[in-house]
Amino acid sequence: MKFGEVKIEAIQGDITKQDDIEAIVNAANAQLQMGGGVAGAIHTAAGRELSEETKPLAPIRPGQAVITNGYNLPNKYIIHTLGPVYGFNQPEEKFLADCYKNSLVLAEDHHIESIAFPAISTGAFGYPFEQAMEIAFSTVHDFAKNAKSVKLIRFVLFSEKDFEQYKNKLNSLG
Ligand code: APR
Repeated sequence: MKFGEVKIEAIQGDITKQDDIEAIVNAANAQLQMGGGVAGAIHTAAGRELSEETKPLAPIRPGQAVITNGYNLPNKYIIHTLGPVYGFNQPEEKFLADCYKNSLVLAEDHHIESIAFPAISTGAFGYPFEQAMEIAFSTVHDFAKNAKSVKLIRFVLFSEKDFEQYKNKLNSLG
């Protein structure tokens, strides 16, 4: 779906396998280290050099985003952002929106044209999926109006069920 000059799409898949995308976003932990879920998959695929680069950048706060190289990943960059823990880091709606917004600001700063997001905070951090999806869409949609370098925003959903929800949401907007 096109929003101004920006294409927003959703696919089912693995965030570490997006070889046509310049920057992927990591649902990181504050220490920017391995962890499970998305962070575990990204650190495993990127290799050990990644944690050498992230070490001096940590800790980060909820909603903050930092950028590193992609190392062994097919992507030039990884943007690491810390989602809110649902029911703990308040206001969680703002922190989650900041994750998307600050990641996109960093992408623009680095003249990145394509970026892929996982469903931040919806795994270990317990954010209800649909609520998180609404925040992801509205933030990305608002941003798309003023985007300069970013031309493609991809949501990568791990499960079929999660993907269906994003697909329905996109269809409802079109
Ligand atoms: N690709 C795409 N999506 C994935 C992948 C993957 N390889 N692995 C998991 N997911 C999905 C999950 O199904 C969930 O919907 O990404 C979403 C976010 O899940 P988490 O990775 O658990 O992220 P989050 O909820 O933000 O929690 C972050 O988890 O692993 C720890 O160290 C990490 O402390 C941090 C916390």
